[in-house]
This record gives sequence, structure tokens and C-alpha cells, in this order.
Amino acid sequence: MSMRLQHAIQTLRDSAPLLRDASMSGNVRVLASLLGPAFRGFVQRRGKGVGSTDISVGYEASFNWSYGRDDPDMARLYHLAKTSQWNASTDLDWSREVDWLDPTMQLLPDSWMPPSRLPLWGRLSERERATQRHGLLSWMLSQFLHGEQGALFAASQITESVPSLDAKLYGSTQVADEGRHVEVFHAYLTQKLEKLYEINDNLYVVIDAIMSDSRWDMKFLGMQIMIEGLALGAFGSIRQMTSEPLLKDVLRSVITDEARHVHYGVLALSRFYREGIDERARREREDWAFELSLLLRNRFLAHEFYDEFYAHRMTRCGWDELMLASDLMGFFRRTMFKRIVPNLKRIGLLSGRIRPRYAALGLLEYEHGRSASELTATELLDDA
Ligand SMILES: [Fe+2]
Ligand SMILES: [Fe+2]
Repeated sequence: MSMRLQHAIQTLRDSAPLLRDASMSGNVRVLASLLGPAFRGFVQRRGKGVGSTDISVGYEASFNWSYGRDDPDMARLYHLAKTSQWNASTDLDWSREVDWLDPTMQLLPDSWMPPSRLPLWGRLSERERATQRHGLLSWMLSQFLHGEQGALFAASQITESVPSLDAKLYGSTQVADEGRHVEVFHAYLTQKLEKLYEINDNLYVVIDAIMSDSRWDMKFLGMQIMIEGLALGAFGSIRQMTSEPLLKDVLRSVITDEARHVHYGVLALSRFYREGIDERARREREDWAFELSLLLRNRFLAHEFYDEFYAHRMTRCGWDELMLASDLMGFFRRTMFKRIVPNLKRIGLLSGRIRPRYAALGLLEYEHGRSASELTATELLDDA
């Protein structure tokens, strides 16, 4: 059997849980919208081993000739964004060195390293452990970088396709914000950590799904509510756990911007889902958001890190179990859904029909948390 075919079969087998997740809602339209991205991400692996990938996008750009300024909340957010811009190359002190072999400055604590639960962790030298901390952090930040590139494109698409002028104006600031985020993560990874991982297959599938969906509100829902919610949780957690000062500064600046982005999604969608769509379309959004929650919850298992450090030591199945049970994943899941669930509720996608499914995942406990529109950036920074 050819290597290519063997690989395709292996990746299909690996993605079976994902396809099972994607069919849980029983909503055929939702499943159909995820099958194409899953095929391109898992079987064709379009994001791997290449310098660039083209994704076809099909949506309508909406010109607004009335120039109506009828959304004061959005206008306030636009004003806030204009006065909160920062310059990535001058506002952060890039002259600081990041010596990740220095034992007094750990990039990540051992409690965050899933392999630290294995007996062999104690037998590694301090240098080997530092190398793995460096590897896992580089893997995580690389995924952030790829996600930021997706956010940059999604923000551009949203700016074109959202009908309201206030929302378009705000969108223009997010495009600049996301460009800056690509800049800082790329600089940190290439200049300070000197390591960059390829995009994780699961992240590729989610980004592909958001890019190729033609409906503007799905882009908002996928990027502004789900991915940005995940990012806010992850950035906040890493900022708390790392003892590397430059990384703390990078994440503080990025979190301040991201808080506005989630707020933007909540503002735009709560209005649209209240006034602009019928019940059948609302249910489809509700199911789609649930599927994405499942994909995001269980599917970021650092396989690229495993391939490099653990493939010769344990099976991938064993690795997945180690990851899923780790403090790291538990922490991510909590912080991420603490951000996402209240926002879903706020925009009207947590109806009595879908609640039992979130409850079965243990996620409803977050529903009474505050949504993005009720949280300031400072509160977010203090409450990772
Ligand atoms: Fe961003
Ligand atoms: Fe963002």
C-alpha cells in the first residue's frame, strides 16, 4: 500500500471520533457543512508540508449606501478600539532575552506538562525537561499564530459582509488588531523561541469551516464567539502560568484586544438572532455552535509535540488518554467554556432544546457567568 494511502486511512481512523462528534446533533445540514472541511483537513491535509494553502471562499460583500449610524453600542466599541491601538514593534520590549534553559525561569510549570505524570519524567535531565517545556509552549503558541491568521481573514470577511455600517467600521479596527497579533506571535516564536510548528489538523478543519461558510453570521459565531472565546481562555491561562516576562506582556496586550472582539460578536449576533432569522435557522446555529464546542473541547491533543517527543515511547492512544486526563486540558476546558457559554446564552443559542446536551458535558455550570458585554478587559486579565 502506498504511504499516501496508508496515511489517509490512518488519519480517517483518527478522525472517526471527530466525525462521530460532528454527527451528534443529528442535524444533517450541520454535518454537511463540516464534512468538506474535515476531508480537506484530515485526509488531504492541506495545511501540512506546504508553504501556502488556498481556501475558496464564497460569500457576498454587502455595500451599505445609506450609511446609517443606528447602533450606538457598536459605535462606542469602535471608539474604544480606535483609542486602544498599540504598536507591536515599539510598545513591547523585544530587547529582553528569553533563556528557556534557565532553571529559574520556567516557560511552563511541570503541573502543566502532561508527561510529568509519567515515571520517565523524573528520569529526564533538567535540560531535557526544559526542552520539552519549550516544545509544548512553542506548539501552543504556533497554534495561536495560525488561529490569529484565521482571525485576520475572518475579520476582513466579516467587515465586507456584515450589513450594518457601525459593524463595518468596528470591523476595520479588528483587522488591524489581528494583523498585530500575527506579528507578535510570529516574532515571539521565531526570534525568542526559534521554533514553529505546523497547523494542527483539528484547528485546520475549524478554520476551513469558518472560511468556506458563506453566511456572515456563521463566521461571527465561529470566530468571534467560539475561537476567540477559546483564545481568551487559553491566553489568560498561559499568562498566569508562565514565568517568562516578555510572554506575559505579549499576552496582556493581546487579551485586551480580544476582549473587544468577543464583545463585537455578542453585540452583532444578539441583535441578528433576535430580529433577523427564523426558528429553523436559529436551531441550525445552535447545533453548529454545539458541534464546534465538541470539536474544541477534546481535539487539541498536541499530536505534533507527541510525534517529536513521545512517539517512540508510547502509543498515540496512550498519549491521548494522558492529555485528556491532564491538568492542562482540564484547565483549558474550564477557562474556555467559562467564556463561551455565557456568550452563547446572551446571543440566544442556549435554548431549552440544547441545554441538556451542554449539561451532559458538564458545561451548564458556566451559564450564569458574565457575557463579554458585561466584562471589561481589566476584569478579564484578573480572572483567567
Ligand atoms: Fe487575535
Ligand atoms: Fe481576535
